[in-house]
Amino acid sequence: VSTDRHDRPRDHFTPRRGWLNDPNGLIHHAGEWHLFFQHWPDALVHGPMSWGHAVSTDLLDWTELPVALPATEAEHMWSGSVVHDGANTSGLGTDDEGPLVALYTSFDPVGLGQAQSLVWSTDDGSTWTPYADNPVLDIGATAFRDPKVLRHGDGWLMVLVLADERTVELYRSPDLLRWEHASSFGPAGSVEGVWECPDLLRVPVEGTHESAVVLLVSVLGGAPAGGSGMQYFVGELHDAEFRPTQDAQWLDHGADFYAAVSYFAAPGPGPVVQGWMSNWLYANDVPATDFRGSMTLARRLSLRQRDGRLVLVQRPVVRPGEVVHAVADEELAGTVMLPVAARSCRVVAEVDPGTADRVGLHVRVGAAERTTIVVDVRAGTVAIDRTRSGAVDFHADFPALHTAPLSGDGVVRLEVVVDESSVEVFVGDGEVVLTDQVFPGAGSDGLAVFAEGGTAVLRRLTIHA
Ligand code: FRU
Repeated sequence: VSTDRHDRPRDHFTPRRGWLNDPNGLIHHAGEWHLFFQHWPDALVHGPMSWGHAVSTDLLDWTELPVALPATEAEHMWSGSVVHDGANTSGLGTDDEGPLVALYTSFDPVGLGQAQSLVWSTDDGSTWTPYADNPVLDIGATAFRDPKVLRHGDGWLMVLVLADERTVELYRSPDLLRWEHASSFGPAGSVEGVWECPDLLRVPVEGTHESAVVLLVSVLGGAPAGGSGMQYFVGELHDAEFRPTQDAQWLDHGADFYAAVSYFAAPGPGPVVQGWMSNWLYANDVPATDFRGSMTLARRLSLRQRDGRLVLVQRPVVRPGEVVHAVADEELAGTVMLPVAARSCRVVAEVDPGTADRVGLHVRVGAAERTTIVVDVRAGTVAIDRTRSGAVDFHADFPALHTAPLSGDGVVRLEVVVDESSVEVFVGDGEVVLTDQVFPGAGSDGLAVFAEGGTAVLRRLTIHA
């Protein structure tokens, strides 16, 4: 399979061939980041899901390994998680070497049941053995899925959803084999779409020695950019019960950030999450040749006090990249094309809007197409406009402007990662994030900056290869 297709990203994981959706079983283990993922290698649409597998030492360069958990006619391997059972609580490893344990949703394509099953590995995730007594958690439900397991005291906690009820269920276990219901959270926040792929994270609060617990919940509809997206709740864990202390917030205001969960045992500070860069509205319809679907960049999380509440801050894991263009303290009025061409690059900009009403960037600029990142100073918003970004007419909901509220005023700091078929925008060090897929032509590689309605000052603009 060729790797030089214009739409295969460089720093984002894509499968060699076939379909990809959710990240699964994220874990940092024995010096490697393991990324498993919902995969149908033989088709470009969602179907009988297997777990694909890839490893990396830097979260940017990935080596794809053979399919880890293949689908069978009777069992599709839906989303779940992997933990390192270092203390061998399960007894499935040896006392010297605890096993890796995966808990995933067994989807029965005939009876439509969803139950949680276990497989384990004693060779660092290369081969997996099914537990003899699967499933380990079955309540006879048809929308009970996406177990995410975390360490809890001497034992374990599992969070998963009753998708249709819009609840997150917490179960506890001493050994990963026997699960007891502990508590339930929801419905709360956004309930228009069914709930999927929950995670429970401890996140440090910047500038303090404190931390709070954050519950991530993917929602299949009603997200700010339309369709599927992610909400989060900041709160506390009391024994095995989650209690929110704030209202729900949105994790990403773009259209294409879904099913993100954290890496088990990620070296700190703070958790590292990664999501699927698509939207169930049109995931099966986006332009594709030999693969369809990509992960987002991995993002390190912290919490920050903002207007009397804690907000999640997301910092992408990036390749520093050689500086190919740099500008400091230049006035900007109107649109200026930059002397660089790039289909993949990282732009860091600090803009003082001055008297301008709108400032921003055009990326992937071609004769008749461009993707625009625009800060509307008066409205206090930042947006990605992909209405003219290239191929947009494969789905009625794709061409759109996605807008997020901007916190603070004055100098705007933007970090924009463009990678062939995606744009990830981090504003104010990651306080506000928008992630969008785009499908421009291969020749659309121009970059421009603009200020409208007045004069702005580009305090700093750096473009990295
Ligand atoms: C989320 C999801 C999960 C499910 C998986 C199936 O995108 O719908 O709830 O386990 O995808 O592929």
